[in-house]
Amino acid sequence: MRYLKLGSSDLNASVIGMGAWAIGGGSSWGSHVDDDLAIQTIEKALDMGINFFDTAPGYGWGHSEKLLGRVIQGRRDQFIVATKCGLWWDDQRGSFFTVLEGRPIYRSLRPDTIAIEIERSLKNLNTDFIDLYQIHWPAVEPEKTPIAETMQTLTKLIDEGKVRAIGVCNVSADELQQYLDCGKVVTDQFRYSMLYREAEQEILPLCQRHGISTLTYMSLEQGLLTGKVTMDSVFEEGDFRTNAVWNPWYSPVNRRRVIDLLEGWQPLCEKLNCNLSQLVLAWTLAQDGVTHALAGARRPEQIEQNAAAADLSLDSQTLQRINQDLLEISAELAQQQSPRVLPT
Ligand SMILES: NC(=O)c1ccc[n+]([C@@H]2O[C@H](COP(=O)([O-])OP(=O)(O)OC[C@H]3O[C@@H](n4cnc5c(N)ncnc54)[C@H](OP(=O)(O)O)[C@@H]3O)[C@@H](O)[C@H]2O)c1
Repeated sequence: MRYLKLGSSDLNASVIGMGAWAIGGGSSWGSHVDDDLAIQTIEKALDMGINFFDTAPGYGWGHSEKLLGRVIQGRRDQFIVATKCGLWWDDQRGSFFTVLEGRPIYRSLRPDTIAIEIERSLKNLNTDFIDLYQIHWPAVEPEKTPIAETMQTLTKLIDEGKVRAIGVCNVSADELQQYLDCGKVVTDQFRYSMLYREAEQEILPLCQRHGISTLTYMSLEQGLLTGKVTMDSVFEEGDFRTNAVWNPWYSPVNRRRVIDLLEGWQPLCEKLNCNLSQLVLAWTLAQDGVTHALAGARRPEQIEQNAAAADLSLDSQTLQRINQDLLEISAELAQQQSPRVLPT
């Protein structure tokens, strides 16, 4: 495993982090997770040298945090725990965001909701401090808490010893700059995969300029880029993978194209003695400005494979071949996709 400090903090985090969304369960992930299997997955991550775990209160409505909290007991020092604040569903404080699994969710970075969220996360996680506390989504109108006020709230949590470092997720370059102007932010987390490369335009260069660590999410496109999804794979209604806006690659026409792309890389995998998940994660980590990739896993063998991607280095010929294929698929798919999905 390789480790890199998170921004200017002293948190030395494995470059492959375990994404703990799917283990939270819930209908968005199609089926409910066996808790024992989830715990074994976290244990396997540790065995593989992963010390970086990303969760959020919304992942299974606290369940993902609680599972991590069970494993943390007695060995807190082996974990760099990243959780989040800013999605709120207790009442209507904040600005309406979406409905998830039947619950209306609000975006709230109000000091009073963050004060409740932090205590809840500490309890769920069975700890008295959180290593990296991230805003899950930036605040929006009508109840748009000013960024300076949010940074004040988060900085106070650092002063109180409840949080060690601050991160942001899903922010625009403008918003990131404002956060940086108001205090110390060490990480930025955003969607980034070989099929979703918007961050290359502004976010990755901005993070690089400021020494901010970048935590990519959905780099496996929720399983599609592992090669396990076939044309016959069916997802339950409400599963994220049926959401055409969030997951356009799962539509039959795009899926066919992606599956063909992955099949074409089998000889590369054979040559490198790796599987597709590892090839894709190694490609992700090799991109300019990417420091850490968060890979979701529900089973020990998945995290075992994903962890090994940290030590897979791709030579320039392999990178060139993959990039050429991506350019071709990009040109074809850009005609059907929103331009923000792929770089032009
Ligand atoms: N900040 C945010 O707004 C935000 C948003 C999304 C995600 N995230 C974070 O980023 C993490 C990663 O994103 P993600 O979990 O949505 O998607 P992902 O990492 O692209 O995909 C995870 C899924 O891929 C499958 N998978 C993973 N490794 C595999 C392997 N080696 N072989 C076969 N299948 C494999 C599993 O699917 P099955 O479950 O079907 O087995 C797993 O649940 C999340 O867990 C979360 O921590 C953050």
